[in-house]
Amino acid sequence: MAKTMIELKNADLTLGQAAASVHVLKGMSLEIDAGQSVGIVGPSGSGKSTLLMVLAGLERLDKGEIVIDGTPLQGLSEDRVADFRGRNIGIVFQSFHLIPNMTALENVAVPLELANVRDAFDIARRELTSVGLGERLSHYPGQLSGGEQQRVAIARALAPSPKLLIADEPTGNLDTETGRQIADLIFSKQAERNMTLILVTHDNSLAARCSRQIKVRSGIIVDDGRSLADLAPSAVSA
Ligand SMILES: Nc1ncnc2c1ncn2[C@@H]1O[C@H](COP(=O)(O)OP(=O)(O)OP(=O)(O)O)[C@@H](O)[C@H]1O
Ligand SMILES: [Mg+2]
Repeated sequence: MAKTMIELKNADLTLGQAAASVHVLKGMSLEIDAGQSVGIVGPSGSGKSTLLMVLAGLERLDKGEIVIDGTPLQGLSEDRVADFRGRNIGIVFQSFHLIPNMTALENVAVPLELANVRDAFDIARRELTSVGLGERLSHYPGQLSGGEQQRVAIARALAPSPKLLIADEPTGNLDTETGRQIADLIFSKQAERNMTLILVTHDNSLAARCSRQIKVRSGIIVDDGRSLADLAPSAVSA
């Protein structure tokens, strides 16, 4: 049976204060196997990005449990969570989130250096070359196209060799053709490195490329995309 990469149990989270508070996650439970690609879809405001933040350990639950690759995140200090994330989880955002006054090479290498990875610049050069940016190492984000900036962000996410890659609308700021190329890159890296991929998208055709689709609505998982064949035999016969 496949190893479990993500276990989310009764995840509950309210964000914001007083009158502005929103009950964003209303008891979500989920299991995702290692190596799976999962597309998360749902209306705007349904809690998709918040769910990803929880899966990445960037947002803490009020109630419930989140276990990534056997590690319960709620038991760890902020520093330990950050360290765990740095080693195991790569994140790609819609709006790239590159540091404008750093070159492409520095954007990928500096986070590795901060995590005390040896040969950070060699690894960064290799990752950037592998996403097709070997000729753009010294360019600043402002000198790169949107698609190229997203490639830098993907190289940065992949550089620590994460087990889990999380992408929040990675093609949302790109034209159709560039978006398709970025999606191709993400899926080819996922297959090549056997990573678990969790991808939020408004594009149903992109979600359909994932091995499993999860539908979220108003903070609830309305379809977790698991077929009976995915479940343990005991669960099917019960
Ligand atoms: N810090 C916050 N304080 C208060 N409410 C918040 C906060 N962050 C998010 N929310 C609310 O939580 C809900 C879910 O937000 P989230 O960003 O997870 O939605 P989403 O499904 O990713 O939407 P979209 O498709 O538009 O990106 C929204 O109603 C949002 O206004
Ligand atoms: Mg969102």
